[in-house]
Order: sequence, then C-alpha cells, then structure tokens
Amino acid sequence: MQTRVIQMEDGKENGILIRSVKSKPFPAKLLLILGLFLAFALTVFVISVSTIKYTGLQSVVTTVTSGFVTCREDEPNSLSKWIQPPAVLMHNMSDEELLWRASFWPRRKEYPFQRVPKVAFMFLTKGPLPLALLWERFLKGHKGLYSVYVHPHPSFTAKFPATSVFHQRQIPSQVAEWGRMTMCDAEKRLLANALLDISNEWFVLVSESCIPLFNFTTIYSYLSRSKHSFMGAFDDPGPFGRGRYNHNMEPEVPITKWRKGSQWFEINRELAATIVKDTLYYPKFKEFCRPACYVDEHYFPTMLTIEKPMALANRSLTWVDWSRGGPHPATFGRSDITEKFFEKILDGKNCIYNGRNTSMCYLFARKFAPSALESLLHIAPKILGY
Ligand SMILES: *[C@@H]1O[C@H](CO)[C@@H](O)[C@H](O)[C@H]1NC(C)=O
Ligand SMILES: *[C@@H]1O[C@H](CO)[C@@H](O)[C@H](O)[C@H]1NC(C)=O
Ligand SMILES: *[C@@H]1O[C@H](CO)[C@@H](O)[C@H](O)[C@H]1NC(C)=O
Ligand SMILES: *[C@@H]1O[C@H](CO)[C@@H](O)[C@H](O)[C@H]1NC(C)=O
Repeated sequence: MQTRVIQMEDGKENGILIRSVKSKPFPAKLLLILGLFLAFALTVFVISVSTIKYTGLQSVVTTVTSGFVTCREDEPNSLSKWIQPPAVLMHNMSDEELLWRASFWPRRKEYPFQRVPKVAFMFLTKGPLPLALLWERFLKGHKGLYSVYVHPHPSFTAKFPATSVFHQRQIPSQVAEWGRMTMCDAEKRLLANALLDISNEWFVLVSESCIPLFNFTTIYSYLSRSKHSFMGAFDDPGPFGRGRYNHNMEPEVPITKWRKGSQWFEINRELAATIVKDTLYYPKFKEFCRPACYVDEHYFPTMLTIEKPMALANRSLTWVDWSRGGPHPATFGRSDITEKFFEKILDGKNCIYNGRNTSMCYLFARKFAPSALESLLHIAPKILGY
C-alpha cells in the first residue's frame, strides 16, 4: 500500500510541473477553460476529503490509485525494479559497465522489504558440468535460498532442461587463464552478476569438479551464522609467497600485507562489493604480479587483508589434496569414493569458527572427475546428508 501512495504522489507532481510550464503562452479562452478545470478539480478534492472522513482512508486510496496500477510495470522508479533479480542473465554490458552497475550499494542498514538472504553458487568452469546431477540433488527443495551462476569458456553454451537449477544461468563470459588476471576478471564478472540480485548475501566460488560435503541446510546455517568470510589468506615467507612480491606495488600494497590463498572462496556481500569496486589495487596487481607470480592466488587475499582484515577467517572452505605433489592437486575418480575417504576429509582437522574450535573445517571439496558422479550419487545420502 505504501509504494502505491508514493507513486500516486509522484504522478501528481509531474502533472503540476507540466501545467505550470505550458500555461504562459496560452490564450485567454484556454485560460478560462483551465480555470474551470481547476475549479472542478478543487470540488473533486473537497468531496474526496469529506469522503475520506466518512468512509475511511483505505477505500479512497484504493480507488484513486487503481488507475496507476496498470502503469506499474513501466514505472521506472518503482521499488520492485531494484528488488527483482534480472529475469535474463545474459546482457550486453561490457565488464566496465557491469562493474560500475554492480558497485551500487545501499547505504541504509535496513531493507524496506522482506529480504530472504540467498547463497550465490558461482561456477567457474571450462564448459560442461559433469557433476550437475549431484548439485541438483543438493539444491532440491531449497528454492528461494540460493541462486546459480555459470561462467564457462565463451565458446561454450550450456544446455540444461527447464527443470534444472542450471537452466539459463550462464552469464556473459570471456577466456580465463590460470595464474593470470583474466582469471580474476572472470571471478569479478561472476561476483558482479551475482551482486545484481539484491538478495544474494553469500558468494561461493566453485568449479565443475567441486562437490558439497553437507546438506544444504547445514551449509546455509554455517555460512549465515559465521562472523567471518572464508578467504584463504596466509603470509608465506618463502619463495612462493613473499618471493613473488614486487616492490613496485608500494605504497598501496606493502609486503607486510602480502597474502596468498587458494582461489576458492566464500565471501559476504560487503566483501563482494569491495572487490567489485576496486580500482586502486587492480592496476598494481595487473602490472606487477605476472607469472611466476600467480595473481589469482594473491590479488583478493591481499586486497581484502588491507581493506577488511577483521572480516576474514583467513581459511578456505574448500578441501583439496596437494599431498601428491606437483603443480595440480589430486583428482578423484570412481574407485576413490569410499566412506573412509570422506571420513578423512570430514574429521581430519581442527579449525576456528566464530572464535571456537571445530572439526567442521570444509563445506566443499575438489577435485572430482566425471567418473566419480555415479559413486557420489550413491554415497551422498548416507555420508553427505543429501
Ligand atoms: C545484445 O545486442 C544484440 C545486438 O546488438 C541483440 O540482438 C541482443 O538481443 C542483445 N542481447 C541482450 C541480452 O540484450
Ligand atoms: C541436514 O544434515 C543435518 C546434520 O547432518 C541433519 O540434522 C538435518 O536433518 C539434515 N537436514 C535435511 C533437510 O536433510
Ligand atoms: C585474519 O587475518 C587478519 C590479518 O591478516 C587479522 O586481522 C584477522 O583477525 C584474521 N582473522 C581471524 C579470524 O583470525
Ligand atoms: C582449540 O584447541 C587447542 C588444542 O587443540 C587449544 O590449545 C586452544 O586453546 C583451543 N582454542 C579455543 C579458542 O578453544
């Protein structure tokens, strides 16, 4: 009701404006007609006021505004335009335009509508999603609490049935290369598109080889109750940490704030906006962190350590196995998927959650080969709870 009343007042103001602008050059006859019209309007107004007295405000407001309801969809300033997520994810905005648009930021703490915060799952992929069926099962029954975004290689077009959670969730994409700024650009593109939905509150970056380790309810409550965002960020004094630092990045990026971390993060809306709005650190990293400085391991952890250190848990929620050595982590296939394997992941460590010790350190795991799908679907209800 409140929005309707506001719209009605807007309409009135427009009318007055037009009238006062046009009235000057009018001939006398028209002025007379105008005068008669004003008298008529005044009469209607007086009658309305007395009607309000006798029949109550409610009914009059409804009658008067009903004429405006038909225009609501075209109303450029209606609140719904700001609340409704874009119906179509594909758009023609350049990255520059998108980042600008996504950096709009409400300054008031309270939302003037019922906002149910959602988890945005952002899939950074090469192409197909071989584990899609597992994710479908994980998300089933939780509509309204999540949204899905897919950034594949630009030559790839995903085809999912209308019933799928991945149906038409592809965003405009560009080539992303490991260890290069184009990878951070892709992650920023995912964040920016997801920020366009005002209800997205937590932003989880995953790949096509990631799986959830718990049911949706558990993951939602872990994220929503956390006081911190989960971005891996540590100070590595060795050649693969501080050794990659370039002093040309000073003074914006001092070496004491130089951090390293896995690219798979979970951040809240405030941090997502901080990343999307950044124009200060970006040029420094783009110019001075090139292979063998792998920018996707340093840019976000370092800039957030400078900008919002207290908001960071400094650990990632995504389990990965580097124990086999080499430049790539282990990939697990059909024969690896056993109860023992998951026991090791789910109960192997101790970490801090909201200042307390917990053994629940990871909510997601990678990397899983397409061949693992069947075994995962089989084991998920018993071990992973979905
Ligand atoms: C993008 O622009 C092209 C032509 O300029 C147009 O055909 C297409 O419909 C536009 N797509 C969207 C999503 O607006
Ligand atoms: C999710 O998992 C938790 C913990 O394992 C369990 O208590 C809860 O019932 C599960 N929720 C659903 C909806 O299956
Ligand atoms: C994460 O690291 C920053 C500094 O790098 C620190 O200020 C912050 O307290 C750390 N977060 C936690 C949860 O310890
Ligand atoms: C967490 O556990 C370790 C021992 O594993 C203990 O030293 C530490 O004090 C605990 N921290 C908190 C916050 O309880």
